[in-house]
Amino acid sequence: MRYLTAGESHGPALLTIVEGLPANLQLDTAAVDRELERRQGGFGRGGRMKIERDRAVFLSGLRFGRTLGSPLAIQIANRDHDNWLAQMATVGTQPEELARVTLPRPGHADLAAALKYNLKDIRDVLERASARETAARVAVGAVARQLLAAFNIRVASQVLAIGEVASVGADPADLVTLTPEVDSSPVRCPDIQAAAAMQALIEEKRAAGDSLGGVFEVVVTGVPAGLGSHVHWDRKLDGRLAAALMSVQAIKGVEVGGGFACARLPGSRVHDEIAYEDGRGYFRRSNRAGGIEGGVTNGEPLVLRAAMKPIPTLTVPLPSVEIDTHRPGRAAVERSDVCAVPAASIVGEAVVAWEVACALREKLGGDSLEEMREHWTAYNSMLTER
Ligand SMILES: Cc1cc2nc3c(=O)[nH]c(=O)nc-3n(C[C@H](O)[C@H](O)[C@H](O)COP(=O)(O)O)c2cc1C
Repeated sequence: MRYLTAGESHGPALLTIVEGLPANLQLDTAAVDRELERRQGGFGRGGRMKIERDRAVFLSGLRFGRTLGSPLAIQIANRDHDNWLAQMATVGTQPEELARVTLPRPGHADLAAALKYNLKDIRDVLERASARETAARVAVGAVARQLLAAFNIRVASQVLAIGEVASVGADPADLVTLTPEVDSSPVRCPDIQAAAAMQALIEEKRAAGDSLGGVFEVVVTGVPAGLGSHVHWDRKLDGRLAAALMSVQAIKGVEVGGGFACARLPGSRVHDEIAYEDGRGYFRRSNRAGGIEGGVTNGEPLVLRAAMKPIPTLTVPLPSVEIDTHRPGRAAVERSDVCAVPAASIVGEAVVAWEVACALREKLGGDSLEEMREHWTAYNSMLTER
């Protein structure tokens, strides 16, 4: 499967084309909208999310809510475009009096991409670099998670840290069941005390014109052993999941299972003993590998963590250099989030759901959901016979 996204942050709409879905998956389009709504939330967001009310409009690939096996085209309107008609017109001539953005923000794509693409108005960069694009990815992930749900594979997440406030978090194995509780926390952290401290810290940094990052965890349950492959670097599922998470705006580190902590421990305290019980088959008494060994799922839940850097746009901006004159100045200020870790955790769920769905499609093949199910049944009975 593959997908592309298009769209500028204040352009008319975000678009995505998803290719390679099986036919006959009954899609709950309201559930796609619910995922978009989850991404819009979280304590620490800026004013933009008050304007938007993201809805997925399906333009192709569906008939009466059922996938046809043809490309799915999804459009999400940018309501804010109405306020940017002159600045973000897709055709016509740029008016002389239109103010350009010429003071690049440290930490954003502003300067690096303006140099690369020879752009004189940094708006040409920031409109696409913006994490508004992740709304399209959440729509794609929402479709992927419905395909996974047809095989009882579930995806969930929680926020583990915002700035220096950290929580041990809920047991990853319980996270799917705990999703309503996690979602009801304004910072998506089920530890009530830590959540309150996180919100207080966000308020403090907002008042100081500063920003915050943090850490979130994504968990996938119900994953059978055997997704991904050990045979080639670009088929290793841990590598693909890490790339997917790292591609999300502002993600600077990814851990699988024990991650960086494993480097400090001896092997006897890292690797998961192998056990076997009749009727249950092979299993592990611990899951420090995070459900992947050798690039292949081992039947335990997938556990991944991502580190998000602080938001680059600061209302008390850092020193920068004006790109027309090379004179020192202060970075441009765009309307911005102070902290978007809760929203990023939803994006994390989406990109992980997509990669796991791709791996499932590769394992099971088939052009229709029925064919996938037949292969699933055959594969599972092969697993239980071993
Ligand atoms: C959900 C989400 C919301 C974000 N909101 C903002 C924002 O409001 N302002 C901002 O400057 N950066 C925001 N970012 C981060 C930037 O998009 C990101 O730092 C930038 O594109 C540079 O990419 P890089 O950090 O991956 O190098 C957000 C990221 C995510 C995942």
